Formats: sequence, structure tokens, C-alpha cells
Amino acid sequence: RLLIIDFGSQVTQLIARRLRELNVYCEIHPFNLVTDAFLDDFAPKAVILSGGPASVIDEGSPRPPARVFELGVPVLGICYGQQVMMQMLGGKVERGQGTAEFGRAYVKPTEDRIDLLKGWFLEEREQVWMSHGDHVSRIAPGFAVYGTSPHAPFAVTADLDRRFYAVQFHPEVHHTPNGKTLYENFVKDAGFNGDWTMDAYREEAIRKIREQVGDKKVICALSGGVDSSVAAVLIHEAIGDQLTCVFVDHGLMRLNEAQEVVTMFREHYNLPLIHADESELFLGKLDGVSDPETKRKIIGGLFIDVFQKYANEIEGAEFLAQGTLYPDVIESVSFSGGPSVTIKSHHNVGGLPEKMGLKLVEPLRELFKDEVRALGHELGLPASFIGRHPFPGPGLAIRCPGEITREKLEILRKADAVYIDQIRKHGLYDEIWQAFVAILPVRTVGVMGDGRTYDFACALRAVTSVDGMTADYYPFSHDFLGETATRIINEVPGINRVTYDITSKPPGTIEWE
Ligand code: XMP
Repeated sequence: RLLIIDFGSQVTQLIARRLRELNVYCEIHPFNLVTDAFLDDFAPKAVILSGGPASVIDEGSPRPPARVFELGVPVLGICYGQQVMMQMLGGKVERGQGTAEFGRAYVKPTEDRIDLLKGWFLEEREQVWMSHGDHVSRIAPGFAVYGTSPHAPFAVTADLDRRFYAVQFHPEVHHTPNGKTLYENFVKDAGFNGDWTMDAYREEAIRKIREQVGDKKVICALSGGVDSSVAAVLIHEAIGDQLTCVFVDHGLMRLNEAQEVVTMFREHYNLPLIHADESELFLGKLDGVSDPETKRKIIGGLFIDVFQKYANEIEGAEFLAQGTLYPDVIESVSFSGGPSVTIKSHHNVGGLPEKMGLKLVEPLRELFKDEVRALGHELGLPASFIGRHPFPGPGLAIRCPGEITREKLEILRKADAVYIDQIRKHGLYDEIWQAFVAILPVRTVGVMGDGRTYDFACALRAVTSVDGMTADYYPFSHDFLGETATRIINEVPGINRVTYDITSKPPGTIEWE
């Protein structure tokens, strides 16, 4: 496996993505946790040093252990990783005076073409993405230059004997269009043959689950989302009916969703599934509540209570299954040191295992979202299900600003169903990260037929995003918006006005609460 040492770049995860696409198994670890002992234990076949916001010139700036360069394996330094490598191996880094570079740049090859750049320079230069303030002013002994850009005379350098490579730009980002070729050459040099496939992963995961669980029982909070569903089906494949799933139905699901989830898992997968229909409880406790954080806390707290109540009835359960993904596991490198601000309290089952004295089974811990989808596909989950937009834990509660009433929920469900139907009919579903309707806490006046109406307004939301952290609104055509508004007003009693939310994130958030 390959080790990526993270120095806090915004795009470190993309390095892992590129490598996974090449069917190479890799892990990201923050620099401060990579010790000599860690390295010996991990025994990487190759190491990548990521970029990062620090300056190697500053005292106390992050370094990898010198041992990285004594392992005898290929090392690739990117941006900050390149500079730290040069500094540690005897080169020199200086602060840029007119040499800082941000954005698109072009690298030209030198006469000597190295294997790392094989398949590059089909044109006479390659577009790359630069983002650096400091620059290398003298390369370390043993290194030679193989690519230059106008502001980075040492854009690509290497010590071929020791198989150390250093690039000033970011090959992992979209704006370095052929960056993947560089990674491909690097991993080939390190002796990876790209045999890490989803099929192999599935077999391995099943073996590990059996080994961990033995003949004990596992419970799983199934939400109907992709992650928990894939985890449940995989675990069921491994240990059969030693697994029991609990579907906590808070009454805030979309139209027919709860029933569909229950039917699919019970009938299609023969999963032992308890349908904990507690909508009365949830809606009762939410009655009269309009503050978003209070709603979230009520739902999160009740969820844990309800899950615990049902789980306690399953005798002898020792494990709790969770669909935790790799991005949730990666410890991010923080330079600010300060606590980050809570924008929204996310709803999850964190804290449950300790409270219930359960051990965790997390078979998706090593996977990215699209890999979970690929695994779901491998396990035979329907494509339409695997490709579903994310749906938040607190459900429709946070798409109903102000007080939640049954009447509003029913209107919201119908409007949302029409909207999604429109999006699917126009073939736009897969282009959109997430789309939904929010019902607004205002009634407005309209005229339908010859009569006056005084009904709710709603907002349509559709965004594109890669990870939900940032997002942009989807540029629907006016025709599409017009047709959808007409359909919603005609088909959903209770709504007489439709608006389209064109806020990006930031400054907005995807959900309304
Ligand atoms: P925001 O609204 O913060 O949402 O821009 C970002 C993404 O996270 C989803 N979301 C949640 N998911 N529990 C979840 O599992 C939650 O409490 C929660 N709140 C927001 C949201 O749907 C979007 O995909």
C-alpha cells in the first residue's frame, strides 16, 4: 500500500482519489502522526508528501520523519512536499519575490525525458495548476531538472537513483488535465500493478467482518441512505441473520419512502428488519418548535432513545454496524488549533456505541462515496437506489422552516415528488448533487380559476457539488422551471406560489435549516 503524508493541503483527498482510480490502495495520514515506528509498521511501498499551507522557511514548520528517505521506496513530493523534500535533502527554499504563482501555468520538458513524465508533452508543453508562495532556489544533491515553467525553473525534478520525485504543481487537480498520467507512472515505478478492485474489496471485507464478529450478533441503524444500506447488505452477506437492522421511522421521510425501504430490504434482501414506526413520538415532540437547532437536537436525541429501546430487545448484540466513510475517518491537519464553529448540529449515531457498550463494525471505513456506490453495485443494489441524492438525517424537518405540521409535511411530500419526477423526466437527476423542495412558512395570495387562493409558497432547490462542502445552484432552463412550477401548483393543493433558490454555498447552505 501507498502512504500519503498530509501537510494540510485542501486537495490531499484528491491524491487518494486519483490513486484509487488507478486501483492502488492508499491511505492518508497527517504528518504529526507519522513517526518512525508508524512507518515501520505501515511498511509503505511508496510515499507521497502532500502540499500544505505552511512555509518550510518558518521555524517549526511541519516535516516528515527523515526515515521516509531511508526506506528505499519511491517518494513523490508535491508543492509543499517538494519544498520540504528539497530542504531536508540539502537544497534551498526561498520566499518568493515576484515568483509566487497561483493558477494555470505551463511546464516544458528538458531534453532528458524521465519515465515519470511518460505520456506527457504530446504537445510541446503541459498545462498544470500551481499554487505556491515559496519556491525552490537550489535543488538537493543528486537531483536533476526535468521540467520547467516560467516562474518555476524546478517544476519537475528527480533523483533517479533513489527514485525521489518532486513537482512544484498539483497533478491531482482537475486543472492539471494529464496529472493522472504522472501518478500512473509513479505507482508503476513503485511496483503497484493496479489490482485493488471492488470485487477483491468485497471478499476481503466479508472475511474481516466474519473474523471480527465471530458468532456474536450485530445491530445496524438502517436509514435507507446509500451508506447504511450498503453496509447492511455487505454485513448480511458475511454473517446472515446474526445481523438485525432497525429502521427508525421519524415520520419525516419523503412520499412512500419508509414503506419502500422496508419492502426492499425485507423482501428483496431478506434482511431481518425492525420497522420502528415512531412518527407520533417525533412529531409530537416537534410540535410548536420552530428553531432549527432545537429541531435537530430533538430529533437526534429521540433517535438515540428509540434506537436504544429497540436494540435492547435484541438479545446478545455486541456490535453496532455503521456506514462510516473514509472522508469521516481522515484526521484533518489543523493549523489554526481553534475549535471550528458549529454551523449545524449533524444528526448521526455518534456517541451511541459507548453509551450502549457496543463495539463498532464499520466495513466502509476505507472507501470514498463513489466507491461505496461501486460496492453497492457489486452487491446488486438497484442502480436507481445507489445513485440517489443524499438525504439528511433529520429529514423533512429541516426543509420545513418554522413550525412543522402534518399538513405542511403532506404538502411538502407531494411537491417534492412532482419536482423530482420532473427532474428525472428531463434526464437531469444524475447531473445534480441534490434537489428538493422546501415549504416556506408564509401564505400568499393567488388567483386560480375565478377564485382567490391563500396558500403556501415553496422553494425549489437544486445544487451541484462534489462533497456537499461547497455548492452552486443548478442552472435550470426557464422552460423547465416554468413547467415545474405549473405542475406543482396544479397538482399539489395547498401551494399557489413556486420560487427557485439560486443561492450558492457559501454563503448559503444546501438545506434551508
Ligand atoms: P448543508 O445544509 O450543511 O448540507 O449545506 C450539506 C450536506 O449535508 C446534508 N445534511 C445532513 N446529513 N445529517 C445528515 O446525515 C444531517 O443532520 C444533515 N444536515 C445536512 C445535506 O443534505 C447536504 O447533503
